[in-house]
Amino acid sequence: MLPFLGLLSALLAGVFSVYFLQKFCFPYFWRDLTFLLKAIKYGARLELLKHSSTMPTVMGRFVQQAQRIPNKPFVICEGRALTYREVDERSNRLAHVLLGRSSLEKGDCVALLMSNEPDFVCVWFALVKIGCSVAFLNTNIRSKSLLHCIHCCGAKALIVGSDLVECLDGIFSNLQEQNIQVWTVTDHSENTLVHTLLDKIDVVSHHHVPAKLRAAKSLKSPILYIFTSGTTGFPKAAVITHLQCLKAAGGFWLFGATKDDVIYIPLPLYHSAASLIGIGGTIELGATCVLKKKFSSSQFWNDCRKYNVTVFQYIGELCRYLCNQPKTEADKVHKVRMAVGNGLQQDVWREFQRRFGNIRIYEFYGSTEGNLCLMNHIGKIGTVGRSNFIYKFLFKYDLVKYDMEKEEPVKDQRGFCQRAGTGETGLLLSKVSSLTPFFGYKGSKQQTEKKLMKSVFVKGDTYVNTGDLMAEDREGFICFRDRLGDTFRWKGENVATMEVAEILGQVDFIQDVNVYGVKIPGHEGRGGMAAMTVRPGHRFDGKKLFEHVMSELPPYGRPIFIRLQEMIELTSTFKQQKIQLVQSGFNLSTISEPLYLLDLEQKNYIPLTDAFYQSIITGRRKL
Ligand SMILES: *[C@@H]1O[C@H](CO)[C@@H](O)[C@H](O)[C@H]1NC(C)=O
Ligand SMILES: *[C@@H]1O[C@H](CO)[C@@H](O)[C@H](O)[C@H]1NC(C)=O
Repeated sequence: MLPFLGLLSALLAGVFSVYFLQKFCFPYFWRDLTFLLKAIKYGARLELLKHSSTMPTVMGRFVQQAQRIPNKPFVICEGRALTYREVDERSNRLAHVLLGRSSLEKGDCVALLMSNEPDFVCVWFALVKIGCSVAFLNTNIRSKSLLHCIHCCGAKALIVGSDLVECLDGIFSNLQEQNIQVWTVTDHSENTLVHTLLDKIDVVSHHHVPAKLRAAKSLKSPILYIFTSGTTGFPKAAVITHLQCLKAAGGFWLFGATKDDVIYIPLPLYHSAASLIGIGGTIELGATCVLKKKFSSSQFWNDCRKYNVTVFQYIGELCRYLCNQPKTEADKVHKVRMAVGNGLQQDVWREFQRRFGNIRIYEFYGSTEGNLCLMNHIGKIGTVGRSNFIYKFLFKYDLVKYDMEKEEPVKDQRGFCQRAGTGETGLLLSKVSSLTPFFGYKGSKQQTEKKLMKSVFVKGDTYVNTGDLMAEDREGFICFRDRLGDTFRWKGENVATMEVAEILGQVDFIQDVNVYGVKIPGHEGRGGMAAMTVRPGHRFDGKKLFEHVMSELPPYGRPIFIRLQEMIELTSTFKQQKIQLVQSGFNLSTISEPLYLLDLEQKNYIPLTDAFYQSIITGRRKL
């Protein structure tokens, strides 16, 4: 008897110590494992389907869902619900109109300039159904930038939403010369050369267009182009393949969303988060989404209550705006249980959960064109990703030491990069392999090459340079530190400093200009600032600059601060010196040079006084 008891207690002690070892040394073990198994299952399903007779695509999945759950609401927008069948049939009609009336063929690219509305989805689906690839255009851009985007993806046609028709002013004749057909989502047009869609859809069939038109030859064929800010000049068109669409569509499911969820999408559809993760994820689940034309912090919770929203997509700014709203009794009265997005800062994260209840927040990191996705499935505050050995086995990424002064990775004697230590900030690189391919940018081999780094750790290896600085702690949580180089984020959009500098340079009194982003207390990302020198014989003219900025730059690209300099300092390699400018920001107490502030009320750049400075850093002034 005694030996048996001894054995039993030894066994129990063993079980307990394993239990506690797991609990304290690997507290996230089971959650990591469950999450990874789910991810692997999804990947394996794609692998299997890849070898079946028809390639899996998100559109294939949509058509399937429309047959399976035809009467379930798919998109709700401004109080109106469209079911899966309705969206399917409307996109069929649009597809038939385009097949009959345009010269578009399978494989052509079509540029889409539309705001968030159900027809964005219907027109997009119609184009996919006839086998065209679609380029989503940012609705904030105008004239030259717009033309650049349409041309660089080789679009054969442009489709414009009814509320954006005036964007055609000034570019229409150019489009005509290039033989780019222009369609509007309206039922008539003053301009007889513009084709209209809506007057023609009632006379065509709502039946399916042949499935062979939309069939994918390979999961790696391009299907979408989504624009991201370039480091120089105009935006670049990131190539999105079926594979990326399928992966993104699994996101909500992976975080635990189900078919019964109602997903609120307040972000613009022309970004990958709303279109690929939001709409794609809704399709994958067979759920319902609520599409918001434009985010409104005062309407947000009412919308959530009205539509029984359970999941929403965010960018950090959006949660901050919600926290800044006056408190109400009803703050916790809603069914929201989960939020998926990126850029949420720790203070806002805590405040958000304190105020609005136990909402699980899932941060993820992944650029539109990138081949790496980090996900914080544990929900640890302030981190964008979670790593462990299995994850590292699937996704080969590394953080390498970075020299901020020289603006390049630190190299050893042999010219290889060095891995950053635990907790040390490093540049995030992601290995290019057959499992994690990089598709680059349309029409620009040069831009694609620039994004790649070769011979990083051994001769001949290739990595994508994400341009983002991150740090990984001992437990494997990854947090975002900063974005490098020539772009910064403001109000959820990427701002390319070179593009802004180029446009500012058109103002006659400006000689040299250097654009960068500065940290502003209480704001996500960075606010735009331009250091400039004035041409000899000219004077700084705030009003003139204001007018130029308002007409030529989208709201997020307009510099908030101007710093006048006697001369623009260069680095030892003759690049414009940015680090010191960024560090001194718009701090009145350390800068003796004249500073100006964008003022929408006076329609002018006005001197930055101490009163204005205080109102900005205390958050009283709206930027
Ligand atoms: C929201 O849920 C409530 C209670 O479950 C239900 O009565 C109501 O009809 C739902 N509203 C919508 C728009 O589905
Ligand atoms: C501005 O500079 C002063 C002096 O160096 C410093 O104490 C202060 O914290 C700075 N303000 C901001 C907002 O960075």
